[in-house]
Amino acid sequence: MTTDRIAALMARMTLAEKIGQLNLLSAGEGPETGSAAVGNIRGRLEKGRLGAIFGTKSVVSVRAWQELALAGSRHAIPLFFAEDVIHGHRTVFPLPIALAGAFSPAVWEATARVAAREAAAEGIKQVYAPMIDIARDPRWGRVAESPGEDPYLASRYAEATVRGLEGDDLTRPDTVVACLKHFLAYGAAVGGRDYDNASLSAEELIGVYAEPFRAGVAAGAGSVMAAFNAVNKRPMHAHRPLIEGWLRGKAGFDGLLVADYTGIAELSAHGLGDGATVTALALLAGVDMDMIGENYLHHLPRLAVEGLDAPEAGLSIAAGDICAAVDRACTRVLTLKERLGLFDDPFRYCDEARATTTALSPEHRRVARDAIAESTVLLKNDGVLPLRTGARVALVGAMADDRTNVLGTWAVSGDQAAAVTFREGLQAHLEEPLTCVKGADIVDDPELAHRLNVHGQTVFLDDRPAALMVEEAVAAARAADVVVAVVGEAREYSGECSSRTDLDLPPPQQRLVEALAATGTPLVLVVQTGRPLALERETALASAVVLAWFAGTEAGNGIADVLTGTEPGGRLAITFPARTGQVPVLYAAEPTGRPYPGHFEKFKTGYVDLPDTIPPATGLFPFGFGLSYTTFDYAAPTVERDRLAGDDTARVRVVVTNTGVRRGSTVVQLYVSDPVARITRPMIELKGFKKIVLDPGETREVAFSLTRRDLAYAIGEEPLAVEWVWDPGVFVFRTGPNARDLQSVAVHWDG
Ligand code: BGC
Repeated sequence: MTTDRIAALMARMTLAEKIGQLNLLSAGEGPETGSAAVGNIRGRLEKGRLGAIFGTKSVVSVRAWQELALAGSRHAIPLFFAEDVIHGHRTVFPLPIALAGAFSPAVWEATARVAAREAAAEGIKQVYAPMIDIARDPRWGRVAESPGEDPYLASRYAEATVRGLEGDDLTRPDTVVACLKHFLAYGAAVGGRDYDNASLSAEELIGVYAEPFRAGVAAGAGSVMAAFNAVNKRPMHAHRPLIEGWLRGKAGFDGLLVADYTGIAELSAHGLGDGATVTALALLAGVDMDMIGENYLHHLPRLAVEGLDAPEAGLSIAAGDICAAVDRACTRVLTLKERLGLFDDPFRYCDEARATTTALSPEHRRVARDAIAESTVLLKNDGVLPLRTGARVALVGAMADDRTNVLGTWAVSGDQAAAVTFREGLQAHLEEPLTCVKGADIVDDPELAHRLNVHGQTVFLDDRPAALMVEEAVAAARAADVVVAVVGEAREYSGECSSRTDLDLPPPQQRLVEALAATGTPLVLVVQTGRPLALERETALASAVVLAWFAGTEAGNGIADVLTGTEPGGRLAITFPARTGQVPVLYAAEPTGRPYPGHFEKFKTGYVDLPDTIPPATGLFPFGFGLSYTTFDYAAPTVERDRLAGDDTARVRVVVTNTGVRRGSTVVQLYVSDPVARITRPMIELKGFKKIVLDPGETREVAFSLTRRDLAYAIGEEPLAVEWVWDPGVFVFRTGPNARDLQSVAVHWDG
């Protein structure tokens, strides 16, 4: 809603001033992910041609930019400042794909709250997070930033993160406005190739990919960022039906929509026309701010006077429509500034003392360390973990004592020097001195190493022969009671524009694992990665496999906690395939006419070269999977009534017992099957989860409530015509500790 103040301000502004507010540039103080950021920010500010800046690195520069902006604006319109705060700001948390696996709204809210506090203390009031792109193809490098493959989990993650970032008042000194990204279906890029386009059914687009956005908007997210890719032939920066029609029209979003980095200019490369044409298309599609490309700044002044006639693009737009759209977009920019309290005091978030005491405070580091335990996934354990007190440990791997990789991708404000290495963390827990050797380079291809070092050096190729390094590691393993090998990806092997064709461990690390396993010393693999890797062989060779993801500032401490006995609380938010050729693979697979298992011998949906022990939909490790240091017994689920009607509520109960000797946690998961419907439905879909902690011998009943609305699904010929419908009949409720190991109970639900 436009306030009197904004209406009065708009009435006094010239067209050029309004267009200036739609311009968004980078401060040039951080990394660039496209063509170079415009250097002349000062010149823009002196003429009032800039609405906001992202990528500032200190409160001092925020203050300086703000002073210039106020001096250059006839109406003293302040800037707002934005930043990529993807998994923490100064204190870096585990990657979003890891945090999502905490299956804990409390953890998501707490980590987002810390991120908001640290960013806001530096004058940053909009963060380009949460990234809530559903990611189902591990070849895509931005899996690292996403909450994984499931819309229900991603929606709960979106809500909790927005709550943590925004709190209940955006004028508070410790809150920021969230920016849901990337709208829409950026994660559905064909072949997992970053920036590539997506073709999806309306059911999948709205029922799966749009769901987290619906949830984030309902939770109050104040802004959204458009995606680079085209969806069903229309690039998202020009996708009026999805932005104006679905996001604003159906989902009720009334905040600010920003372009991604040069996303408007890139519409020309997508084939939509020249600079003027794509400018008009983006503005009318509902993109309010132009990031980096400055198409709005250059083309809107003329378009607002002459309109556009572009028959080759099938367009004819009146000048009046452009002016009205500029007014709408500018009003949204100013409204956000007002919500942030910047008109009352443009310097309200510029407190240098607060910035220093807030960043990386002991309290924030504690939240980070706890979040690691909550998100680390124990994939295999034959009993070697937790490490025995007094054990002689050999620590091996190029990333074992390395600070340059642990923060993971998109940690643009993280301080490597403040990060704890695995060696430091583990040594602090052990009585005996730790032996630490490299064993192998992360990768051995110099060209690949060069590419991976794009944002600073993280891969250091050794001068020594590979065989010598392996020999050294083997000798260390032989002299130890247990060998812990840190293997996986370099920091930028997962991330933006880091798609892979091969999900195996890089060859030098494979050879290292084989040689270590051959020593007979129990082998613990700590896997540092931003995406699912194909770990079939390595899992068979190792005694234990711990998935650390990229764990952030407290990595060494947090992973050492888990290795020495803290309960590993993480579960997989994305399926791990056995082999690259199996992707995309997801638990919510659809049935086919020749389903696996259940069809005779060879003629079933699967792969002839994959053993029957690896089901095509669950991969090597299924969605929701993760072991505990104790064991749990799940009783079969029960329902109060097995016949329901209309608006009844189904109550599904499951009794879980800790059958081991240690206190531990499990994530009780509820899936639903709808065996007969109007269209083919996924075989199972997540509809509820609850993380519980039980003492040895303790039993707990966990209850889930569902109504018809929870069982509805999306159906429609095109996105805007999608309806959520529900078909009466049989529904099967399945409960268990992951998407594979489930027990069920059926109900009949009448209309
Ligand atoms: C990314 C966005 C990011 C933006 C600004 C782009 O390359 O796709 O996620 O917010 O850069 O840094």
